[in-house]
Amino acid sequence: MRKKIFLLSFLFAGILQFIFAGNADKLIGNQISVFYPKNYNPANHYPSIALLKEPQSVGNIPADWKLKPRFYLKNGKSVATLPIAKGTSLYGTGENTGSLLRNGKQVTLWNTDNYEYKKDGGKRLYQSHPWVMGVNADGTAFGVIADNSWKQQIELTDSIRFISDGPAFRLIIIQRNSPQEVLKALAGLVGKMEMPPLWALGYQQCRYSYVPDTRIKSLADTFRLKKLPCDVIWMDIDYMDSFKIFTFDKNKIPNPKAVNDYLHQKGFKSVWMIDPGVKAEKGYFVYDSGSKGNHWVQNKDGKEYNGKVWPGKCAFPDFTRPETRAWWGDLYKDFMAQGVDGVWNDMNEPSVFDGPDGTMPEDNHHRGGGELPAGSHLRYHNVYGTLMVKASREGILKANPDKRPFILSRSGFLGSHRYGATWTGDNSATEGYMKESTPLSLNLGLSGQPFSGPDMGGFTGNTTPDLFAKWIAMGAYFPFMRGHASNDANNKEPWAFGPEVEQVSRTALQRRYRLLPYLYTQFREASVSGIPVMQPVFFADPKDTTLRKEDRAYMVGSQLLIVPKWAAQPALPKGIWRSFIPENEVADNYQADMKVKGGAIIPLGKIIENTTQYKTDSLTLVVALDKNGQAKGVLYEDAGDGFGYQKGEYLISQFAAKQVGNVVNVTITPQSGNMKQVRHHYKVRLLTANGEYTSDWNAKPVIRVVTSKRNKK
Ligand code: GLC
Repeated sequence: MRKKIFLLSFLFAGILQFIFAGNADKLIGNQISVFYPKNYNPANHYPSIALLKEPQSVGNIPADWKLKPRFYLKNGKSVATLPIAKGTSLYGTGENTGSLLRNGKQVTLWNTDNYEYKKDGGKRLYQSHPWVMGVNADGTAFGVIADNSWKQQIELTDSIRFISDGPAFRLIIIQRNSPQEVLKALAGLVGKMEMPPLWALGYQQCRYSYVPDTRIKSLADTFRLKKLPCDVIWMDIDYMDSFKIFTFDKNKIPNPKAVNDYLHQKGFKSVWMIDPGVKAEKGYFVYDSGSKGNHWVQNKDGKEYNGKVWPGKCAFPDFTRPETRAWWGDLYKDFMAQGVDGVWNDMNEPSVFDGPDGTMPEDNHHRGGGELPAGSHLRYHNVYGTLMVKASREGILKANPDKRPFILSRSGFLGSHRYGATWTGDNSATEGYMKESTPLSLNLGLSGQPFSGPDMGGFTGNTTPDLFAKWIAMGAYFPFMRGHASNDANNKEPWAFGPEVEQVSRTALQRRYRLLPYLYTQFREASVSGIPVMQPVFFADPKDTTLRKEDRAYMVGSQLLIVPKWAAQPALPKGIWRSFIPENEVADNYQADMKVKGGAIIPLGKIIENTTQYKTDSLTLVVALDKNGQAKGVLYEDAGDGFGYQKGEYLISQFAAKQVGNVVNVTITPQSGNMKQVRHHYKVRLLTANGEYTSDWNAKPVIRVVTSKRNKK
């Protein structure tokens, strides 16, 4: 046996040597290069968890390549620096506290259960993205991946500096003409988000915890009774029997299938929590089967590691092992069969209440397998959650092969967007946290993760009616929109703050649901190109340096600008941007200003209560012409779930508007995909400097709007 292992590792080392022959710096794509430190040892890093595949050389680095890193050792740490020119704006570095602009910041990449972001001054949160994007003064851009998973720091003071507690690592550098192109190149390296099910774009209601089953049902009933749009109800840890994952408390949830059936009948989906810590209790089926399969992370002496989480003493699956990932995935079969629609993987930094620094000891042992070598927790800590969610996704897909999996994960790493969405952890009910949620999600988007959002309303502490109204009015356009509340905080459902805030919430939610045709099209765009759904304002004009800091206003896609009501004098892009308000809306003092870019057409759907009612049979096209009297827009449609779209069962339609004299013709043309088109009825709302003009409902592919005085509204 020993001989076999020896021979295998010899072979492995041989393969690595072949792959990394010479560790020579090389070009690995169009304007993408990899740089190696002299003492690089691939065995310490291969295979990369961030990258889709090992990059291949496409030639030598051109002589005029500008961005050249320097590698060195300092105080026993491996360092890589990249000088930056004056006027460079820095972004990315994943999930961070503070402003959108990262210049001058320090970030620690060490996934941390960071309650209220208070630990270590908020320098490290739940996720790690060894990635920085730079936008040069002239609007051209670049990006740097420090391709390693070890504990490390990013310093963005006088240069870009990665300082790792692990061995020397390589840098991958992308150079492009715009930040958007950098993100496309990043997605080429680290992958793209898979299309989520449409329901995951709806509003989601969570609390720690909605139990017992009668409370879940009445929560669902209240949403429908009050005509507040909502798609998903979330079940936090208290549904479990003594916090044992994959179990249900017999008293609180005697029949989970019946709960899910009830929710489904009312047009809801359900998401249930699964944490990584497995209660170390003989006779509990998950612990017994995990022990039998030898699936637990070990301490430095090779013994089962135990630490405390919600259930008390726990063992932790070693997700570096392919056998463990398969075992973990298979646990979902019976669970999903209860009618569970989505899964919430929390505490997966991993959080260990009695462990050093709130996690496992750095010298814990992960055994690896397949391509992944054995290694210390110091090496694998930052990717523990990512490997967990990968295993969850594979298991859920195996259980429900015809449905798009939806998993929300707290922990993550560069590339984890391939497996699930994320939220920004345990924030608090203050205006400061509300405002910070925008740069948090923006920088996640600029780091490859397009599907994120905060605990809307604030997780800890009591939310005031005014704060809730402000938060729901600005949060309605985030990629992920979920209200959540801690177990000791006040009720935070949209109706919990009195009739005025309930109406503000209804209006905000109706806006989100009306925007779904546009929003879903942006998700499609992100899944195809890697361009984030939620974009910083400077994306509208990367050359305009006055926009680089703006992180109160934000964009959804490239055509819709959102200015929260509370954002005083935000820096906004020049050019034509036209505000609009959806028809028949009850006015209030909270809703955000929605601005359509001149040259854009935004499709709006009907007001619905959940996405099972979603149809594109009648659309309102909101048109803002550019200075040449033209505009364009796109609509992506598919079944909203399943994988038919991968076989062509989708439809992309193009909208185009052109002004000729005082007539604007809007044409609708199917472009690609072979999904049957439902007969659409269109109405055009033309936004102009002189006011708004509307057409009647029309089923023709060309709609005329006459901008004569008579028609002016
Ligand atoms: C963690 C999560 C939070 C959840 C709680 C109980 O604090 O971040 O969202 O409600 O655990 O499961």
